[in-house]
Parts: sequence; structure tokens; C-alpha cells
Amino acid sequence: MNRGQRKVINVVIATSIFWILITRVFYSRSLHDRASISRCVPSVFSSRTDSDISGSSGTLADYRFPEFANDRELHKHAFRKVLDGPGPGSPRIAFLFTVKGPIELEPVWRKFLQGHEELWSLYVHASNPVDYKFPPGSIFEGREIPSKPVARISISLVDAIRRLLAYALADPHYNNAWFVNVCESTVPVRGFPAVYEYLIGSKHSFVEAFLPEEKYQQWDTMPEFPVVQLRKGETWMQMTRKHAIIIVTDTERYAKFAASCSLWCAPDEEYFQTLLHLEDVSGIANRTTMYANWEETRPIPGSPRSYGSSQDLFALFDKIRKMTQETDGLKQESALDKSPSSLRPICKYNGITNATCFLFARKFEAEATSAILHVMSTLPGF
Ligand SMILES: *[C@@H]1O[C@H](CO)[C@@H](O)[C@H](O)[C@H]1NC(C)=O
Ligand SMILES: *[C@@H]1O[C@H](CO)[C@@H](O)[C@H](O)[C@H]1NC(C)=O
Repeated sequence: MNRGQRKVINVVIATSIFWILITRVFYSRSLHDRASISRCVPSVFSSRTDSDISGSSGTLADYRFPEFANDRELHKHAFRKVLDGPGPGSPRIAFLFTVKGPIELEPVWRKFLQGHEELWSLYVHASNPVDYKFPPGSIFEGREIPSKPVARISISLVDAIRRLLAYALADPHYNNAWFVNVCESTVPVRGFPAVYEYLIGSKHSFVEAFLPEEKYQQWDTMPEFPVVQLRKGETWMQMTRKHAIIIVTDTERYAKFAASCSLWCAPDEEYFQTLLHLEDVSGIANRTTMYANWEETRPIPGSPRSYGSSQDLFALFDKIRKMTQETDGLKQESALDKSPSSLRPICKYNGITNATCFLFARKFEAEATSAILHVMSTLPGF
């Protein structure tokens, strides 16, 4: 046998074992498994201390997140836990917060989550400082996973999201079925029951994936995959357990994106999207349920519009909730068709067209908190 043949056989064996294990987990345990350049993220910083997870006596769960020597060990741990199947109870939505520190919109999340305690779980990767702890009484208290610094436009944001996925998959207490990636400027635009029903009932993960224009294709992808298979999309995705497992157990595609690339790289907007496009093309919806206003980019150029308290948030939320067509967002960077109907496709849900597109929105400033709380108590279905 030559090297090439051996490699092929090894890949076939590894893939088969992986899928047998996955199938065992999925089909025996839970039906629900059918289931930027980062513009939301931290400025560059470099201080680094190992996080100390002591004293995490959360109000929601007395669970200490185990620590590992490195991410690879964490991912292996997560995979071993995955083989045991998800935790007990009803399928939950795990909200994965990638933040610097405080989540000033917490009152919005608290109101959204209240009364549905059996159906969600929270995980926070707070990275500036890495040992940031939420105060007693916060819904995020004790939910900080061991974290590392995160810098814009780097693989470190991918690492943070993979860490969150791994801890949420490995958590023995919860039956985490869906994984929603959010940051500190994100809020829900619908009530929890509607969000839950939409996600749990979906046959596809909400991962945007379009072929980016050439300047974003500068990764050395061969021999793993041809560059035409490269995909790009919004970092803030919503995915099934199956897709979370694919991401946490991947090593080969990750290595490609962790290697340096020339100028135009946005690993967080390309790694997840490409991996899931390659591994399960028919399992992703090619869109996200996270609204962002890319038509107006202010106050930060290159970043979607940020809303404070001076805007009419009632009208904004009402508009977002009624949208059945995507925003053009990052899709403007698509290398394919740039016609308006391609940039702003009609939203599909389980194959049905003209569906509600959005469950979440960004970006909102802390000062918008009370206005959003008011919208939540006024708009029906919140
Ligand atoms: C997403 O796009 C791919 C083509 O890139 C397509 O094969 C797949 O069916 C699409 N997913 C859905 C749910 O339509
Ligand atoms: C989609 O829904 C909107 C409002 O719900 C409606 O005005 C529009 O005509 C629908 N479009 C199609 C193609 O069905």
C-alpha cells in the first residue's frame, strides 16, 4: 500500500467510526438531534492569565466547569461526554455568549428567559479579563467557562466559540439540543416560546454560507478541499447538536483556518461555515436568524448599525419580526449572483417560503435596555 492509499483508508475508517458513534448518540437518544471580521467582538488585547474557576456557586447550577491543559483536551472530553448522550430532561437551547465582560443587556435576557427555566442553559466566554466573574444574583453567575483572550480578525474567536460549544455539549446536567451564538450587543426579538418552537422544530441549522468574493478566498485549502467549497457568513449562528459535535471534533479543517492567511481573513466568518457546508450541505439553511442592519453602518464603519435609546425601537422590533426576506448583510461579498433577489432571498423554514427570518438582532447599546424592556412588554408574543 502506498502512502496515498493508506491515507484514504485511514480517513474512511475514521469517518466511519465517527458516524457510527454519532448515529448511536443521535438516533438512540433524542429526536431533536434531527436537529466580520468579527464585528461584535473585543478589541485586541494580550494579557493572559489562566482562568480560575473556583467559587462558581451559580444560582442556576452548582456545577464547576472542569479545566483542561489545552483546547484539544477539552474537545476530547466533550466527545467522550457526547458518547454518553445528552443530559436528562427536556431538550434545551444553550445560549453561548462570547463577550468581553459585563452583559449590560442582561435585564432583557432575564425577562426573555424567565418562566422557562427547564428549557435553556447559559454559557459565557468572558475574555477581558479572562477571569471576569459575574456578580452574585446575575443570571450569568457561575456560567463563565475557562476562557482565553480573544482578538478581532483572528482564529481566537473561533477558539472561543468552539470552547463554548464543547462545554455546552459536555455539560452532564442539561439536554442541550440547540446552540445559539450571541454577543453582548445581541437581544431576542421574539418571546422564548416562539424562539424555542422555531429552533427545536427546524430541520436545518441557521448557518449562513455563501461563496465569498475572491479576496476572501486566500486560504490554502488544498488538499482538504478545493477553494470553490469555501463559504462565508455571519459569526452569530444557531445550530443543532449534530453540527456542534462536527465543529468540536474537527481537527483537519480547523488546521487549515488556524494557519495564517494573507490580508483578507475572517476565520470566524469562514471556518464554521465552510466546515458545515462540506460536512452537511443539506443540513444548513444558508442563513442566520440574527438580524443586523448592514445598510447603515454607524457609528463604527465596517460594523452593522448600533441602536441606542434614541431610536424608535418599537417600530424597529416590529419591522424585524415581520421580515420574510433576508438583509443583504455580508452577502454583498458573495462571488456569485449579485442580483437583489440573490442578496436578499425570501426566507425559508423547513422548505416553506416566506417564513419569519429573525429571532434575534444586533447591535444594541446598554442605554437601549429600558426601551427594549418596554417593547417586550408591549409587543404581543414577547
Ligand atoms: C444551502 O445551499 C447549498 C448550496 O450551497 C444547497 O445544496 C443546500 O440545499 C442549501 N440548503 C437549504 C436548506 O436549502
Ligand atoms: C410574504 O408575506 C408577506 C407578509 O406576511 C406578504 O405581504 C407577501 O405577499 C408574501 N409573499 C409571498 C411571495 O408569498
